[in-house]
Amino acid sequence: MGHPRVDAVAGEARAAIGRAASSADLEAVRVRYLGRQGTLTQILRTLGTLPAAERPAVGAAANEVKRELETLLERRLREVQAAERRRERAAARPDLTLPGRRPPRGAVHPLTRVSDEIAAIFGGLGFSVAEGPEIETDWYNFEALNIPPDHPARDMQDTFYLPGSLLLRTHTSPVQVRVMQTQRPPVRIIVPGRVYRRDIVDMTHSPIFHQVEGLAVDRDVSMADLKGTLELFARQMFGARSRIRFRPSFFPFTEPSAEVDVVCFRCGGDGCRVCKQSGWLEILGSGMVHPTVLRNVGYDPEEVTGWAFGMGIERIAMLRYGIDDIRLFFENDVRFLRQLA
Ligand code: FA5
Ligand code: MG
Repeated sequence: MGHPRVDAVAGEARAAIGRAASSADLEAVRVRYLGRQGTLTQILRTLGTLPAAERPAVGAAANEVKRELETLLERRLREVQAAERRRERAAARPDLTLPGRRPPRGAVHPLTRVSDEIAAIFGGLGFSVAEGPEIETDWYNFEALNIPPDHPARDMQDTFYLPGSLLLRTHTSPVQVRVMQTQRPPVRIIVPGRVYRRDIVDMTHSPIFHQVEGLAVDRDVSMADLKGTLELFARQMFGARSRIRFRPSFFPFTEPSAEVDVVCFRCGGDGCRVCKQSGWLEILGSGMVHPTVLRNVGYDPEEVTGWAFGMGIERIAMLRYGIDDIRLFFENDVRFLRQLA
């Protein structure tokens, strides 16, 4: 049986199938012999040009070879595909001998860390944390705090106003009012948060900065309590040998009022660029809550008294870490952040 031309094609095709190493190779072989222009297809298609006597034998042989090649192709394809899958799996398997890749690790921002430390120190003294909105009404930010519209104290805090008598709060003190409105004394809270002022940027001033407000209202709360509490705070935050001073000051919402300074970390009190030659850095304003403020929230100033303070978190962080420019906190240069992490 067979036919020389058909046999020759069959031999070639079997060898090609045997050599094929991939499904792409096999497809090429199939096209070459069995495709529309394939060698075997051509033979079958041109049977009519052969002498009548040869046609049946050549036709039968060609058809048989065609079936055989189809079977061989299919079998080889399964083998090759199995090998391909094995190779893919091997490539996908992790190489356990490679050194590990360390995932980049973030860190808590220094301002968040200092804010958390402040909360922990006051938490130990029985203060809980409260929060309030950054967009405030004029009433909460100023009027309830005894700052009427034409009061010169508004110039101390140049304000970013928003449409509709709203503003970006210039301090955390409005939260004092919000808390006292919803709570009866005794009150012991601290309020961390972001505040906004149209301040000129320099080494110690930023138009966006953070404060922590403190408020204690109870029977017989005194200025001596305030002083003792802040001295204790300074020792915990800056170390047992740190020095602070109380300087008489003025706020419409406290009477008497005091600002507190810490010895400049840079010059130790001699005077330098950071402390504008004064030797001290102001960290907070404070005082006894003004009776008008207590009345504004429905408290009776004959019954209860209170003290309050508002400290700048950036200033505390600068003193704590010896950082001489406030802008470093907001640039988020990872080299700076990593040093403090
Ligand atoms: C106030 O904001 C008062 N609300 C503080 C207060 C609260 C007084 C309760 C009495 C009772 P003052 O404007 O001084 O006060 O700001 C408080 C602190 O915020 C300053 O001591 C300083 O540490 C910080 N601070 C003020 N302005 C800036 C600024 N532009 N950039 C960074 N920190 C600032
Ligand atoms: Mg001040």
